Amino acid sequence: MFHARRIVTAEDARRMASKRLPNMVFDYIDGAAGHGLGEAENRRVLNAIRLRTRVLRNVATQDLATDLFGRAAGLPFGIAPMGMCNLSAPGADLMLARLAARRNIPVGVSTASSTPLEKMIETAEGNAWFQLYYTDDRAAGDALLERARASGYTVLVLTVDVPVVGRRPRELKHGFQMPFRFGASQFIDCVLHPRWSLSTLAHGAPGLANFDGSTSRFDRSASRAGADWDYLERLRDQWKGRLVIKGVLDCEDACRIRDAGADAIQVSSHGGRQLDSAPLPIAALGDIRKAVGDDYPLFYDSGIRSGEDVVKACAMGADYVFLGRPFQFAIAADGERGLETYCSLLETEAKLTLAMLGARSICEIGADNIAGAQPGAACP
Ligand SMILES: Cc1cc2nc3c(=O)[nH]c(=O)nc-3n(C[C@H](O)[C@H](O)[C@H](O)COP(=O)(O)O)c2cc1C
Repeated sequence: MFHARRIVTAEDARRMASKRLPNMVFDYIDGAAGHGLGEAENRRVLNAIRLRTRVLRNVATQDLATDLFGRAAGLPFGIAPMGMCNLSAPGADLMLARLAARRNIPVGVSTASSTPLEKMIETAEGNAWFQLYYTDDRAAGDALLERARASGYTVLVLTVDVPVVGRRPRELKHGFQMPFRFGASQFIDCVLHPRWSLSTLAHGAPGLANFDGSTSRFDRSASRAGADWDYLERLRDQWKGRLVIKGVLDCEDACRIRDAGADAIQVSSHGGRQLDSAPLPIAALGDIRKAVGDDYPLFYDSGIRSGEDVVKACAMGADYVFLGRPFQFAIAADGERGLETYCSLLETEAKLTLAMLGARSICEIGADNIAGAQPGAACP
């Protein structure tokens, strides 16, 4: 029996999830591109960032609230868009949406979500951003955008780092595919994880809820290579709300996206799931911040696991931070209670980190908080 109180770190949730989930589901969520070296190296660089501790600054209170497109967000981190979240547990999408509503933080709603996008924004009480993948089928793309607009989404996230789905050996070895297909090895995997299997059986296998399967379909392995600068220009004209471009790691691309009228860029390696030898996103964040200037909105995801990591990403130049896998693992470990526990520990760690840095608000955090960035800062 697992208890939420045992989730004290993201690794606790991951370990519990690895026991609960069938191997094919755990490997789908946890997996990375290639050998996973890029993902691991990004974690190593994040771990190596030293923050500058300051003293005698009266840090009796810490404020994590921040501005996000003119709206107050309760915490400096939100939920990254993830397809098929209900694989981690039945109802996972709605747990994430309820967390977004309670904490006033954005939940990314994937094109490939396992709950209809309309239900997600309603449950999140407006705190939902729709994530779009390019499709060659223009009418299908337009129909999704229209549904997003009609149901009240004001922020659209276009993910651009998946011209093709990355090669993820841990998925391939299980024959993982969407929609879900069962063969003998998947059956045995499920039998060996009865708790997940019975609850999934009771609620029905998760599907791609934004598509009815007959008039509209989502093909995960379809090429998205047709996305180009003309498409971005068209989308910018078409979508009147805020537009975020997710999956950017290059300074030249970032400047061109900014100049094309996007409202923000999300620096991300898709959690290391696309190209093993891609630039490390946490390093790219610092470079892109310098390239686009201090005032352009930059978001970050990939490898964030603790509240301290959130503060580090802000110090590296992020205005807002997102996490993916840990939220799903917290749900797999202990359902909605595990999710709340994990969110609260991120919050506590972030506040504690601010206090150690001599800061009262997350909005104060920037390059100045990196130890060694200023001559003599890290010296005895
Ligand atoms: C299981 C899973 C599914 C994902 N599905 C999507 C998706 O549908 N659209 C998208 O833009 N990103 C997707 N991502 C990437 C996340 O939005 C995010 O970039 C990544 O998870 C961040 O890294 P982290 O998991 O280390 O926090 C997915 C990630 C995972 C782990």
